[in-house]
Amino acid sequence: MIRVKVPATSANLGPGFDSMGLALGLYNEIEIEETEGGIEIVQEGFDYKNNSPERNLVYRAMKTVFDECGKSPNGLKIKIESNIPATRGLGSSAACIIGGMVGANAMYGLLGPSDILSLASKMERHPDNVTPCLMGGFTVSYFDGKKVTYSKIPLGEEISLAVVYPDSKLSTGKARTTLPYKVPHRDAAYNAAHSALLVSAIAGKRYNLLTEAMQDKLHQPYRIKMIPDMEEIFKIYKDAGAYGCYLSGSGPTLAAIIATKDKESFSREVCEKLSDKNYNFDIFGFDNMGTYVKKL
Ligand code: HSE
Repeated sequence: MIRVKVPATSANLGPGFDSMGLALGLYNEIEIEETEGGIEIVQEGFDYKNNSPERNLVYRAMKTVFDECGKSPNGLKIKIESNIPATRGLGSSAACIIGGMVGANAMYGLLGPSDILSLASKMERHPDNVTPCLMGGFTVSYFDGKKVTYSKIPLGEEISLAVVYPDSKLSTGKARTTLPYKVPHRDAAYNAAHSALLVSAIAGKRYNLLTEAMQDKLHQPYRIKMIPDMEEIFKIYKDAGAYGCYLSGSGPTLAAIIATKDKESFSREVCEKLSDKNYNFDIFGFDNMGTYVKKL
């Protein structure tokens, strides 16, 4: 039996479109057993959907690794416990892909972390969620179509991530249809400067820089029409004392980096101001270990 514990992730962080992400202390767990034949998938928890193996992302990711290794088991029983809300911008698909690939690789042990990152980025189409999902911490990564180059900074316990998300879903594919084909050069320069500022602020723990460093001109201004309360919630976050806030991945989750010591007062203020709206609210610490696999 193989057990995989795989973290939720939050990508983009404002200016780091398709490149930055961080891992959260919220996990899906996957158990894999080799059987005599057939594929049995048991899924429980958040957004449970009883998909056929061909449509199940964990199994499809496992199959990619089996094909890459040229090996395959007779049969499989896969149990998935989903705690990560799906299609909300919290890395649920990256968790399925990385969880499936790491689990499949544990059966034959042929691929290294960089192979897994490349296969996962190819499947997910961008590396911003899959890299922190596998490695933990805050990561910046780039996928050139063949390999992922990344850098990781572990995150301290003095900061946490607050998230507000609606019950409605928004797929990344749909959220990408709002993005323009071309952007003005000055907007590209703005994001280059803000991305560099963000990495420097996180590395140096200069969290007061995050309000400015998390500003973006490449995707958030275009996606705002699909996220009706974005500006209002950002204002609520700022008034409650957040260091910085951003659209998590392609949304609809809205995230804020806050001081862990202010968690209670921050929650109280945000929940009070959103009490007449139908949103879910949570605060997570960060995961610095990434995906954990155990052979039992
Ligand atoms: N970076 C992606 C996007 C989402 O903003 O469309 C997460 O992979």
